[in-house]
Amino acid sequence: MGAPIGIDIALAAALLNDGKLVAIPTETVYGLSANGLNTDAVAAIFAAKNRPTFDPLILHVSSIDQAKSLCSTWPAAASKLANAFWPGPLTMVLPKADHVPHLVTADNPTVAVRMPNNAMTLALLNQVSFPLAAPSANPFGYVSPTNAQHVLDQLGERIDYILDGGPCAIGIESTIVSISEEDEVTVLRLGGLDIDSISAVLGKSISEVLTTHSNPQAPGQLDQHYAPGSSMIPWDPNQSEAEARLINHNSNETFGLLWFSQQQAQQWLSLHPAAAANKTMKHYHLSEDGNDKEAAMNLFGTLRRFDKDQCHQVYFVWAPPAGLGRAINDRLKRASAKGSR
Ligand code: TXA
Ligand code: MG
Repeated sequence: MGAPIGIDIALAAALLNDGKLVAIPTETVYGLSANGLNTDAVAAIFAAKNRPTFDPLILHVSSIDQAKSLCSTWPAAASKLANAFWPGPLTMVLPKADHVPHLVTADNPTVAVRMPNNAMTLALLNQVSFPLAAPSANPFGYVSPTNAQHVLDQLGERIDYILDGGPCAIGIESTIVSISEEDEVTVLRLGGLDIDSISAVLGKSISEVLTTHSNPQAPGQLDQHYAPGSSMIPWDPNQSEAEARLINHNSNETFGLLWFSQQQAQQWLSLHPAAAANKTMKHYHLSEDGNDKEAAMNLFGTLRRFDKDQCHQVYFVWAPPAGLGRAINDRLKRASAKGSR
């Protein structure tokens, strides 16, 4: 059972008007949405996700004007970036307007705003009179959902409807930047928009505050975010002990091997037939020939496959750190920090 999955935008709007919870498709990942100006509805999001209230939510909007109405200032950099990248995978953290509930921003003086690039969700936003507060639609600390079934699997019993927009085109959460009243732009989270594109629009390089520990500016950027059920262990195919680690892995237990590309996997496995013959190993790749966008799109779904296969441990290969490769590595790093939980 669980929440119905469908494409009824009018029904989704009616439920949201009623203070209910609706999962929505975006180009990055599915969100768990509610009326972002209704404190009770927002509280229900935290409860459904089991999310601590110190972790603030993003408000999703359908226009730049709506975003401006949620902020107390709209610096020049916000205009430039919104014009260049919205709708799209960029969230901007700006000084908040007074009427934005404190629960949404976790008592921060700032609010996160984003216009998602998904036709259904934009149509839905146009049918309601409020912004949608929406974190990723997964239980707190687990990997984000990239299709409607992922949402149903984990939150189906706790929400009222799942709007089905098909698989997410980008597959990794939005890039988050904060913009100060003085127009200073700082990256808080790597994501679906690469940093070079942002720098190019601003005409200067931008600083990054990507702490691996709880960050007062981005309280949700915790170490062990995005973790699947399996333990994720970095593995370097070029190291001399790489093959031995696979061969010597406890032979009674299914384990996983995550490649960045199929090409890389084929080359290495053909040179190491003893490892390739290990029947307890499940291996998947993120892309055919090393395309970073394809890899990002496949990342979370692939981590879920290892869980379905009941792999207790998964060895993974880092992505080349260019384009979305940096954001992919950020998620892999957080997933592998789970062991320290
Ligand atoms: O792509 C996305 O961003 C997806 C889709 C659904 O839009 N949403 C998403 O939401 O990833 P969530 O809640 O899983 O992650 C949002 C992050 C959190 O880590 C939170 O700490 C940070 O945004 N955030 C929200 N408001 C903030 C604020 N005022 N200051 C600093 N960080 C903030
Ligand atoms: Mg999340």
